[in-house]
Amino acid sequence: MATILPPAVLGMLGGGQLGRFFVAAAHEMGYRVWVLDPDPNSPAGRLADRHLVTAYDDYAALDQIAAACAAVTTEFENVPAEALEYLAKFVPVRPSAKAVAVCQNRIAEKTFMRAHAIPHGPFAVIRADQDISAADDGLFPAVLKVARFGYDGKGQARVASREEALHAFHAFDGEPCVLEKLLALDSELSVVLARDADGRIRAFEPGENRHRGGILDVTIAPARVEPQLREQACAIAERIAQSLDYVGTLGVEFFVSGGALFANEMAPRPHNSGHHTIDACVTSQYEQQLRALTGLPLGEPRMHSRAVMVNLLGELWFDGGDHHRPQREPDWTVVHREPGARLHLYGKHHARQGRKMGHFTVIGDDADTVLEVALRARAAVGIDDGDQ
Ligand SMILES: Nc1ncnc2c1ncn2[C@@H]1O[C@H](COP(=O)(O)OP(=O)(O)OP(=O)(O)O)[C@@H](O)[C@H]1O
Ligand SMILES: [Mg+2]
Repeated sequence: MATILPPAVLGMLGGGQLGRFFVAAAHEMGYRVWVLDPDPNSPAGRLADRHLVTAYDDYAALDQIAAACAAVTTEFENVPAEALEYLAKFVPVRPSAKAVAVCQNRIAEKTFMRAHAIPHGPFAVIRADQDISAADDGLFPAVLKVARFGYDGKGQARVASREEALHAFHAFDGEPCVLEKLLALDSELSVVLARDADGRIRAFEPGENRHRGGILDVTIAPARVEPQLREQACAIAERIAQSLDYVGTLGVEFFVSGGALFANEMAPRPHNSGHHTIDACVTSQYEQQLRALTGLPLGEPRMHSRAVMVNLLGELWFDGGDHHRPQREPDWTVVHREPGARLHLYGKHHARQGRKMGHFTVIGDDADTVLEVALRARAAVGIDDGDQ
């Protein structure tokens, strides 16, 4: 495929914050972007050159995209794989429908890991009550996760026993699930990488992720783990990308348990834990997505600064986290006054509990100072650890 040069129009399925940063990167490099997202106020849609406000399976809209766009990508793993497959008849689609289909279904994802000898935790596929009866005793305590459409810990239940698993399975209306052994976590890591159409891979430094209430709270980059573990994580993520024949930016989440790595899940798009690459790396994960999509050489992923990223969730927009109070804007001066702090807000109109509204990244040369400043700003903005 010939390199796609500006001012070409690129298509983006999904209009969330990941898409918004892609649009910004594309604009910076002279491209135009059409976004398809059903929400008229979608963060990326508001920045796009054209926003098609419609469903992902609106084939008339997909035809418009196919006619106008030189290539298409996605920022949302739940875009129907059929829509990507359809577009691929007319224009390059990166990542492919096939790769996205694996990442958007936990059964397909775990089966893929097993087939390609990617280290992962013990699990069972649950499609019926009998699968729970037949599950290995060693899986409990476990987490039951719906195979599709889960995110930020939604569609998940921690279950101590077979009875609880059955109960949770019914509460999920018998939707296909995976039952995963609950691992004792030393820490969580993620690797974001980019792979181009010729198979070249550039990985970012792994990040160390802390969650709160099932949602990413803080990413520390580089991760504070042994170099050997960092290298292993990158090598596993690279193997995943190769096996999927992946083109674009890919996020791979890992658990570290008993000193060993277990792949948790893949995101066929830039990843929340890679936000810091905007401020701390020579090339951001969004620019890499753009470069892989257009056939430009991949950029340098090197970190020029150490970084800590803090997610800003909807509860901050309500005084004391109380949703009965009117929505208000947090006082951002507490972030802006910190050295090395960079605030990013996604322009979402309505705050909801757990909704990702923005983030800030603190960059600097000294890891301890960067973490200290980030945690100070996090507390000052009103994030408390009381209700972990
Ligand atoms: N098997 C497990 N053992 C231990 N902890 C787990 C397990 N599965 C999930 N968790 C915890 O719950 C978090 C969310 O799980 P997971 O990544 O599967 O869900 P998700 O809804 O896709 O989340 P996100 O969209 O934020 O990545 C994990 O990062 C981890 O902290
Ligand atoms: Mg996850």
